[in-house]
Amino acid sequence: MPFEHQVDGLNERSYIITAALPYAYDDLHLGHIASTHLPPDILYRYLKLKGARATQVCASDDFGTPILIAAEKEGKDPRDYVGRWNTRFKEDLERLGIVYDIFDRTSSAENVEMVQSFFTRLRENGHISESEIGQFYCEYDKKFLPDRYVRGKCPYCSAEDQYSDGCENCGRTLQPGQILDPRCSICGRPPVMKTSSHYFFRLSTFSKRLEEWLNGNEGLQADAKNYVLNWIRDGLQDWDITRDIPWGVPIPLKEAEGKVLYGWFDNHLCYITAALKAAGKRGDAGVEFWNGSAIYHFIGKDIVYHHYLFLPGMRLGDGRYKLPDYIPTRGHLLLNGRKISRSRRWMITVRDFLEVFPPDYLRFYLARIVPFSQADANFDLKEFGEKINNELVASIGNFAYRALSFVSSRHSGVVPEPGVVGTQEEAMKSELGLAVAETGQLIESGHFDRAIKRVLDFSGRCNQYFQHKAPWENTTEEPTSIFYSCNLAAGLATMLSPFLPFSSQALWHQLGFDGPLEEKGWDGASTLRVEPGQRVTEPKPLFKRVEADDLAKVNVNLG
Ligand code: MF3
Ligand code: ZN
Repeated sequence: MPFEHQVDGLNERSYIITAALPYAYDDLHLGHIASTHLPPDILYRYLKLKGARATQVCASDDFGTPILIAAEKEGKDPRDYVGRWNTRFKEDLERLGIVYDIFDRTSSAENVEMVQSFFTRLRENGHISESEIGQFYCEYDKKFLPDRYVRGKCPYCSAEDQYSDGCENCGRTLQPGQILDPRCSICGRPPVMKTSSHYFFRLSTFSKRLEEWLNGNEGLQADAKNYVLNWIRDGLQDWDITRDIPWGVPIPLKEAEGKVLYGWFDNHLCYITAALKAAGKRGDAGVEFWNGSAIYHFIGKDIVYHHYLFLPGMRLGDGRYKLPDYIPTRGHLLLNGRKISRSRRWMITVRDFLEVFPPDYLRFYLARIVPFSQADANFDLKEFGEKINNELVASIGNFAYRALSFVSSRHSGVVPEPGVVGTQEEAMKSELGLAVAETGQLIESGHFDRAIKRVLDFSGRCNQYFQHKAPWENTTEEPTSIFYSCNLAAGLATMLSPFLPFSSQALWHQLGFDGPLEEKGWDGASTLRVEPGQRVTEPKPLFKRVEADDLAKVNVNLG
């Protein structure tokens, strides 16, 4: 897929990168990381290495019926409840090396202000309509019952015990009143219908403009684009953006007291809020910053509708902030071949995983298996162990450790002066240059799985070179091959750093550099940066083999 920044001027540009916002009611699991948090972080780290101005933001998705229900179940004030999740998300992500310039919350004062300004402008521009509609109401609990407050039978596929806003069995979204045999999910009694006045976002009036935008935007994935265009052809529905619950962004109108905006009205606006906050820009300066940047929204395929239609529709109607340039959309993550399920607890949380394995192991394996497409990837625990052992330990770790050990044991920890440079050294130097260029191109085009594979292939070549030179035979070429090997390892460290920030920094340090690897940039990786005479630090294996016992520790927490 063509990405415009592939062409040139990369470091002149500003990039705004967002990851879909996790709902503030459960821990992050491996599926969140695979599609939504790791891919943007790889791009972000790469862009920084290239010297580009990049801003990466995320937030907790705080509002909405499911969260209010979860807070009520625990007897907590929803504000405290979501605050706790926000902190946990940040902790988990930080431990994975995923650090946002701002990890906001959709309930922040700045976002509430942004959301209300959108509502007001959309209404002034004629994109909001109002009508009286029937809503479920529980006379026993004295509450309107939107969305998950009602359960019943799906009118399309007859699946039992579905929420009133959508069926998990057939995947259809449902409008209020459509569900059969409705029951209040608090008390189990059948609700009654009462009228309430609701606001609608007139999405249908944007059909033509959305279609033009989709067709004209080269940066969007063809597979997603095609079915979104089909949805437009089938006819878009206006969106009910009102909820009669006490937890959400208040609708900024006197006559709408007690009503709040639907969670999908406010959550994606936090992309903008957080990016402007991170850049320290407000008002016109903020608009300019946003519109002057390349915008990336990383998502999983279950929220395509919201990001390809609802979000751009709202931005078109508001008219201030430009639409996304890229919406990299990835498939689901299966776990040992089965669909991840929160309700069946068929999932591994980030927390549990990091109890057993280092963060780079997870980053490596996920980067390796998740393609840039909507195809699902399978996290197979056994294969995870094999990949770590055969690729991370046996290829990358082994090469770096062997090279550095020679510096330690034969050259008292000082990188030797190279002698005559032979054809193999010339060849390895140009292979290094090629690997750096091609890995960069693969990252720029969003193919992180192929990019990490490209680095691995290069590491394989480094091992062959080392094997071939057989420095243990102590030939006159030994200092040359050790000097070159250290330099190849330094190149590997930089190429690996968007994927494996912790181990690449450790390797960098072992090679005798002080300070963060990032300072030296991406492009320099194709040159020989380790100097003769440079003092290395004590080499330590970068990676440890995964044993069956370790895998069993994760396995027992499954299901
Ligand atoms: N919380 C939503 C989900 O998990 C994603 C929100 S992304 C944003 O499905 F666009 F709203 F920001
Ligand atoms: Zn009830």
